[in-house]
Amino acid sequence: MHLSTGSSQSSLPIEHGVNLRELNTFGLPATATHLVRIASDADVRRLLDHPRLGRLPKLVLGGGSNLVLTRDPPGVVMRVEVMGRRLVAEHDDAWVVEFGAGESWHDCVRWTLEQGWPGLENLALIPGTAGAAPVQNIGAYGLELADRFDALDAVDLVTGRSVTLDARACAFGYRDSVFKHAGFGGLAGRSLVTRVRLRLPRPWKPVLGYLDLERRMAETGCAHPDARTIFDWVCEIRRAKLPDPAVVGNAGSFFKNPVVSAEQCHDIIARDPHIVHYPLPDGRFKLAAGWLIDACGWKGKNVGRAGVYERQALVLVNRGGASGAEVVTLARAIQESVYGRFGIRLEPEPVVV
Ligand code: EPU
Repeated sequence: MHLSTGSSQSSLPIEHGVNLRELNTFGLPATATHLVRIASDADVRRLLDHPRLGRLPKLVLGGGSNLVLTRDPPGVVMRVEVMGRRLVAEHDDAWVVEFGAGESWHDCVRWTLEQGWPGLENLALIPGTAGAAPVQNIGAYGLELADRFDALDAVDLVTGRSVTLDARACAFGYRDSVFKHAGFGGLAGRSLVTRVRLRLPRPWKPVLGYLDLERRMAETGCAHPDARTIFDWVCEIRRAKLPDPAVVGNAGSFFKNPVVSAEQCHDIIARDPHIVHYPLPDGRFKLAAGWLIDACGWKGKNVGRAGVYERQALVLVNRGGASGAEVVTLARAIQESVYGRFGIRLEPEPVVV
């Protein structure tokens, strides 16, 4: 790796030949030809104005926790390092907090609790940065980012303009937002999130509907847990089920939980009465992808150096030295066997580059 500066007018440092293995939680090998660290909106504009790099393709990199690198990304990697955490407003019915996109999501959750502003505890220990949280509308244990979202600031990667988007403009869905869609109206590859603002309702109300949390309440006899207790429970549940990316490379759930029609769900139940399914308000059903993969016998199996985690079949892991191609090969083999047995196409959650 070596360093150069952007141009005579700008002092934007550009790193060349950067190893990305440590910058993606799967620990996959790839090299960034050019990498620029973005600490502000102005840094984005400096890069866009750069005579050589400004027009190259760009990959926005946060914590690298939702990414499968199968090759060296073309063009420039923009590593988001916008920092800062602050209380923006205190209303009678909510606290509004703001996080720089480069802040660790989990640190932000812990910090808000320490400050006495609860509301994010169900989303504890999710790997990645605050800026990536709205991109895939992170969710766990009965809560989604969209439920706490106020607005975000982003920079348009074509015009260089700073914009503010509200929840409507972000078009949140299950593990989905406008930032995941290319083409007309979509912002994939077109936008870099710099700050995220969340609205934490007052008075605080616990979100306890998820089975794993109900089980904790029964086990501990604690029927009215406070936010800190829920935070601790969520951390314990996640640690028991999900691999720590610092130890075993992974990108969390590899597939989304598929949504099927009532008819399709009843067909599958007729053949597999134990299938885990949840009714949705629109009459359709969400199926547990982990259960489907597990039922096909994949838990603990490997293809090359990529594998299926022993304690949660929805998580693919790097057994040590895996390439992105091996992860993709394993993912395809899983998709084929789930389709063969259940007629359901699993859709990957992470972005494949
Ligand atoms: N299951 C199996 N075998 C498995 C895995 C799961 O039978 O190998 C069954 C479980 O027994 C359970 C059901 O499937 O009845 C659901 O499992 P779990 O509660 O672990 O949740 P999930 O649906 O697999 C989702 C999210 C997770 C989130 C948890 C908790 C998606 C794609 N994943 O997983 O999010 O932490 O719920 O809310 O929606 C992530 O997105 O990276 C992630 C980890």
